[in-house]
Amino acid sequence: MEQQRGNWSSNFGFILAATGSAIGLGNLWKFPFITWDNGGGAFVLVYLVCIAAVGLPIMMAELLIGRKTQKSAIGALREAVGPLWGLVGGWGVLCGFILLSYYTVIAGWSLFYFTKTVTWSTGGFPSDLSMGELFGAQSGNGGLQLIISLLFSIATVSVVYFGVQKGIERIARIFLPVLFAILALMLVSALTMSGSGEALAFIFRPNFAELRPSGVLEALGHSFFTLSLGMGLMITYGSYMDRTQSIVKASAIIIVLDTVVALVATVIMFSVIFSVAGMADEIGGSTVGMLFISLPELFYTVVPFGRILGPLFYVLIALAALTSSMSLLEVVTSYVIDEHGLERHKATLMCGASVFVFTVLAALSFGSTPWLSTMEIFDGKIGWFSTADHFVSNWMLPTGGLAITLAAGWFMTRETTEGELLDGIQPGWFSYGAWRFFIRFVAPIAVAAIIIAVLFFNVDFS
Ligand code: TRP
Repeated sequence: MEQQRGNWSSNFGFILAATGSAIGLGNLWKFPFITWDNGGGAFVLVYLVCIAAVGLPIMMAELLIGRKTQKSAIGALREAVGPLWGLVGGWGVLCGFILLSYYTVIAGWSLFYFTKTVTWSTGGFPSDLSMGELFGAQSGNGGLQLIISLLFSIATVSVVYFGVQKGIERIARIFLPVLFAILALMLVSALTMSGSGEALAFIFRPNFAELRPSGVLEALGHSFFTLSLGMGLMITYGSYMDRTQSIVKASAIIIVLDTVVALVATVIMFSVIFSVAGMADEIGGSTVGMLFISLPELFYTVVPFGRILGPLFYVLIALAALTSSMSLLEVVTSYVIDEHGLERHKATLMCGASVFVFTVLAALSFGSTPWLSTMEIFDGKIGWFSTADHFVSNWMLPTGGLAITLAAGWFMTRETTEGELLDGIQPGWFSYGAWRFFIRFVAPIAVAAIIIAVLFFNVDFS
C-alpha cells in the first residue's frame, strides 16, 4: 500500500503543482470582479491581510497534516486527530466533488472563447456583433455547453489518470511557466494603455469609505477559495511531500505567487476597462460579465497586439483552470484509492465520470433547461450553478477551514506540529509560537466570524 502511493519527484515540482492548484478561475474570474464590486484599494488591503493572517497559517496546517500522515484528506484527519475527524475529510471530498462539477463549466467557456478569438484574429472581428448576445447564445446552448464541458473534463481526467508525478506534476511543470509568460506579455501591453494609471490607483490606493463590512468577510471567504484551502486539497498534496522540504517556505512561495497573479490579472483587466470611455459603467453586476462579455471585444478595439493577446488570454484561463481542476479531481480520486484500495486508472475514470453527471446539471443551468436555470434555494442565487457555487463558497469551505484550524491548533499536540514545521528550515527566521497563536486564535475567530455573518447577516461570498 505505502509503495503504491505517489510522491512528488522534487520540491520544485511540488511547489509548481500546489501553486497551479491555487492559481485558477479564482484569480482570473472572481478576484478582479469582487475587487471591482468592493471599490478597489481598501478591499485589496483587507484581502492581503486575510491571506497573511488566515490563509498562510491554514495552508501550513493542511500541508503538515498531509505530510505527517502520508494520507489523503479523510485518512489523514482520522489518523492525525481521531476517528470522527474522518467526517471532516469526507466533507472536504464532497466539497471537491461539487466544486469540480461546476468549475468545469466556466473552464469550458474559455475553450469556446478561445476558438472565437482565433476566428476573429484570423478572419477579422465582426463589428456588428453584440458580446452580450453572443454570451447568452453560447451559455444558453445546451448541446454546446455539454460538448465544451465534456472536452474540459476529459482533459482533467487525462492528467489525473497518469498519477502524481507523470500526470499532475508534469502538467504543472509545463503549463505554469507558459501561464506566467502569457501574463507577463499581457501586463506589458496593459501598462502601455491610457487607463493603466487609473487602474493602478484604483487597486492600490485604499479608500476606506468604499469598504462595506460585508467586503471584509468577502475578502476572507475568497482567501480560502483562491488558496485551495478548507477542503483538504493541501492535505492531499502535502501527503506526497518529502520530509526534507520546508512546509513554511513552500507555503510562503505558493501564497506569494497566487497573490501576485491575482493582482497582475486585476491590473491587466482594469487597465483595459479604464482605457475605454464609459466602459467602467457598463460592467454589470455579474462576475461572468467582465471576462466573457466586456473583454473579448476590447482585444479588437483597444488592446495593443490584441489580435495575438486575445486568444492567448483564453488559453491562459484554460491552463489556469486545468491546473486547478486536476487538483480537485485528485482529492476525490486519492480518497477512492486510499480508502477503497482501487487502482488509480480505474479510480480516476470512475470519479471523473461521476463528477461529470453533476457537471451536466451545471452546464444546462444557463438557460437551456428551464428548471435548472430558475431553481432558487438560496435567496437571489438563481439556477443550479449559482446555487452550487454559493453552497461551496459560503458553507463548505469556511466550515471545513474552521475544522482544520481546530484540528491543528487544539487537537494535535504541540510536539507534532512543531516538529513538522521546523523541518528543513534554519532556526531563527520562523516563529513557531506565532504560527500557533494564529492557528489557535486568529484564524478560527476570523473564520467563525464568516460563518456567523453568513448565518445571521446574510452575507454572500460567491
Ligand atoms: N484555487 C482555485 C482557484 O482559485 C480553485 C480551487 C482548486 C480550489 N482547488 C481547490 C478551491 C480546492 C478550494 C479548494 O480557482
